[in-house]
Amino acid sequence: MDSYGKKNGNIPLIRLENIGMIYKIGDISYEVLKGINMTIEKGEFVSIMGASGSGKSTLMNILGCLDKPTSGSYFLEDRDVSGLTSDELAEIRNKKIGFVFQGFNLIQRLSIIENVMLPLYYSGLHSRDSEEMAVEALKLVDLSEKGNKFPNQISGGEQQRVAIARAIVNNAPIIMADEPTGNLDSVRGADVMNFFGKINAERGATIILVTHDRHIAGYGRRLVTVKDGMIISSETINI
Ligand SMILES: Nc1ncnc2c1ncn2[C@@H]1O[C@H](COP(=O)(O)OP(=O)(O)OP(=O)(O)O)[C@@H](O)[C@H]1O
Ligand SMILES: [Mg+2]
Repeated sequence: MDSYGKKNGNIPLIRLENIGMIYKIGDISYEVLKGINMTIEKGEFVSIMGASGSGKSTLMNILGCLDKPTSGSYFLEDRDVSGLTSDELAEIRNKKIGFVFQGFNLIQRLSIIENVMLPLYYSGLHSRDSEEMAVEALKLVDLSEKGNKFPNQISGGEQQRVAIARAIVNNAPIIMADEPTGNLDSVRGADVMNFFGKINAERGATIILVTHDRHIAGYGRRLVTVKDGMIISSETINI
C-alpha cells in the first residue's frame, strides 16, 4: 500500500500509453512526441518542465483533450478518449478540465463575475446557482470584491486569479495551466501559485502545470521533465 492510487486497486485519473504526435507540414513530418508513457493520480500536483520546443504544450493539449495524438492511447478515468470525436472531446473538456493560460484570456467586455460564469453557460450547467458558484470561486482566489469590475480595471496577477476562478467554477476535477506565471513578475507569480496550491489542497483538484521556471515548478509535488518529445525523468519534489 505504498501509494494511495494502488490502495484500493484504484485506477489512475490519467494514463498515457505510448503517445506519439507527428505534425506534417507539406512533405515533411515532425515527430514532436515520441512514445510518452505517464500516469497521474487524482489529487496530484504535477509540474512539467523542459526546453522550448521539447513538446510540453503539445503534451498539454493532448492531456487537455484539445488535440488528439497521432498514435497511442489516452485513458481518462479508465475511458479511452484517444479515439473520440471533437464534440465528445469538447464535452469532456467542459465537465472535467479547467484551463489557465499564460495570457489570462479573459473577455474584456464581460465583467469579472461574468467571465467566471462563462464555463457554466458552455457546459449547460447555467442556472440560478451560477452566480453563487462564481461568487464562491472568486472568494477562493480572494477577489470577492472585484466581481463587478472589468478585466482592464484589475492587475495582471488579479486577472490570472480570475482565470483560476473561471477554471474551477464548475468543480472541474483537473486544472491545466501552461506557463500561468509567464506574464507576471515573481511576486505576482508566487501569489498566483499559492492559489493553485490552495485549490489542490482544499478542493482536491488535480493540477498539471507547465513552466520554464524551476522555482514555480517547486509549488508542485512531482516534477516531470520532457526532452525532445520524451519524458526523461519524473521525480517527487521534496520541500
Ligand atoms: N501545429 C503545429 N504544427 C507543426 N509543428 C508544431 C505545431 N505545434 C507545435 N509544433 C512543433 O512542435 C514542437 C514542440 O512544440 P511545443 O509547443 O509543444 O513546445 P513547448 O515545449 O511547449 O515549447 P515552449 O516552451 O516554447 O512553449 C516545436 O518544434 C513546434 O515547432
Ligand atoms: Mg509551450
